[in-house]
Amino acid sequence: MQKIKTTPKRIGVFDSGAGGLSVLKSLIDSQSFEEIIYYGDTARVPYGNRSQKVIVQYSLEALEFFKTEHIDLLIVACNTVSAYGLEAMQKVSSCPVIGVIKPGILALENAIKDKDSKILILGTKATIKSNLYQTLLQKQGYHNLSALATSLFVPLVEEGIFEGEILDITMHYYFKDYPNNPDAIILGCTHFPLIAKSIAKYFNNKPLLIHSGDCIMQYLQKEYPLKPIPNPTKITFFASDDLKRLKETAKLWLNQP
Ligand code: DGL
Repeated sequence: MQKIKTTPKRIGVFDSGAGGLSVLKSLIDSQSFEEIIYYGDTARVPYGNRSQKVIVQYSLEALEFFKTEHIDLLIVACNTVSAYGLEAMQKVSSCPVIGVIKPGILALENAIKDKDSKILILGTKATIKSNLYQTLLQKQGYHNLSALATSLFVPLVEEGIFEGEILDITMHYYFKDYPNNPDAIILGCTHFPLIAKSIAKYFNNKPLLIHSGDCIMQYLQKEYPLKPIPNPTKITFFASDDLKRLKETAKLWLNQP
């Protein structure tokens, strides 16, 4: 992975849409960055049902967007892009590009030492199909793995449904054949942290939930000499469609003025 020597002050966050706000929240809460430029490809979300070729193409186009933003570091909040587009982006980017999957694996390794633990990976169709989480976890010795594409959670979260009957039915639909309580669940999609409470409740609040935003912060704190900043982080939003809606969602999800 590329590395810069200085502390990243002005960083970019890219997601297929509004979901990356869940990662943005962790970055804001860390009070480590002077400026964050958020770009959501709201015109073309969701990426999770698309082919590898299209996801790579969209990822490179997003990189083009950030070219004029003079950022020190780009965070790919989207798990789907992290699974398919990251390498292509890293090859041509002038600044480091960090995805959420590797930090997620490292965070799980730190938290779950028993390699026999039952780990459930949730993600979009594309992320689960990429097999990346599964392969990386197997490499680390975890073998009790299950992976489920739970794509319907994405539109529910977009709709502002974080709990209740429809979500319960959807969770039952996806989880009914899952035999045991998992020890850990990887929330391998930007939208899933918003329904983390409901997912945890479904599994009797037993499993440890791995959230991309927390993982990326743990990773950045290890990789870079981050220092607390005196002023609140300045955030600028960009969207490929309906910027107003993205800003409204941000207000709601981030509790920001
Ligand atoms: N941001 C995507 C992810 O984390 C979820 C939404 C989509 O399918 O684009 O995988």
